[in-house]
Amino acid sequence: MGRGTFNGWPQRLVKCFVLLVLLTFIAGFFFNYIHRGSGSQSPHPVERELYEVISPSTYKYVLNQPDKCKGKQPFLVLMVPVAPGDRSSRDAVRNTWGQEDSLPDVVILRIFFLGLTAGKQDPRTQGDLERESREHRDIVQMDFLDSYRNLTVKTMMMMNWLATSCAGASYAMKIDADIFLNVRYLVDRLLGPPTSTAPRRSYITGSVISDGQPRRDRKSKWYIPEEVYLETSYPPYVSGAGYVFSVDLAARISWASRFVRPLPLEDVYVGLCLRVLGVRPAYTYSLRNLFEVRHLAYERCLYSRLVIVNGFKPPQLLRIWHDFQKAPFTC
Ligand SMILES: *[C@@H]1O[C@H](CO)[C@@H](O)[C@H](O)[C@H]1NC(C)=O
Repeated sequence: MGRGTFNGWPQRLVKCFVLLVLLTFIAGFFFNYIHRGSGSQSPHPVERELYEVISPSTYKYVLNQPDKCKGKQPFLVLMVPVAPGDRSSRDAVRNTWGQEDSLPDVVILRIFFLGLTAGKQDPRTQGDLERESREHRDIVQMDFLDSYRNLTVKTMMMMNWLATSCAGASYAMKIDADIFLNVRYLVDRLLGPPTSTAPRRSYITGSVISDGQPRRDRKSKWYIPEEVYLETSYPPYVSGAGYVFSVDLAARISWASRFVRPLPLEDVYVGLCLRVLGVRPAYTYSLRNLFEVRHLAYERCLYSRLVIVNGFKPPQLLRIWHDFQKAPFTC
């Protein structure tokens, strides 16, 4: 009887133990690596119940335009969140900057994004919407409640729609319906000209907010409790009024949302997803911020050198749009 047999069991146990520790270490490392993205911090996936709030698999389409992008390579897709009952805003957008044929030789598409109206669905409103959708083919509606605090859900559904139904597009813009958009300036000067420039990747721009902080005052419209967001500042993000991004980001932002706890500020939320991806929003200043998120009194030639201006009711938008058509000849 040698020592080997006598010590055989303990030795094997020790080997097993060492192997186990090693495997755990490697597995842990790998897990971490997979879930890191290219961001600087290593985010953890959010708990399942929280992720379900913004997961595309939670919601179903009520109205959809699955063929909107088929056979086309749109240069720009305008994604407009709007309340189901807000027909007048949709019509104003359709007749102003949302016209799909406003620029010759550039494919621009327009999609309105809607949830469901509160309470019991009003069958008449829904019938009207279906008719409107058949007529214009620009409405996507999903079965979440359309509310201010669900705008993050809406935005993430837009990202998913772009990634699954329109991934061949170059750029998309999330833009509210009460905004003036200078399509020509955006397409020709900021993003293009479309024929001579390869589309950028990992690109997002708008009115960049780099010093945002969570409001801890319960009465604030932007109140965020510490349980939801613990840090004392937000990473740079683009104001939700209107921002432009290369469409490759849609799928990546959608992916990154697995690691970002939902919060009811959609633009901050997109900023947090961008941090996971290691993407920084680009600044676009010339003489002033090209994305003017306040309201500015209308002046044809001033507006001709901006991408967006905030704060328009439908009749105002229609009125200035008419005048703005003279800008190319007079400014
Ligand atoms: C968001 O939508 C979901 C699904 O319809 C709904 O259950 C929830 O109450 C909504 N949240 C808010 C704050 O409106």
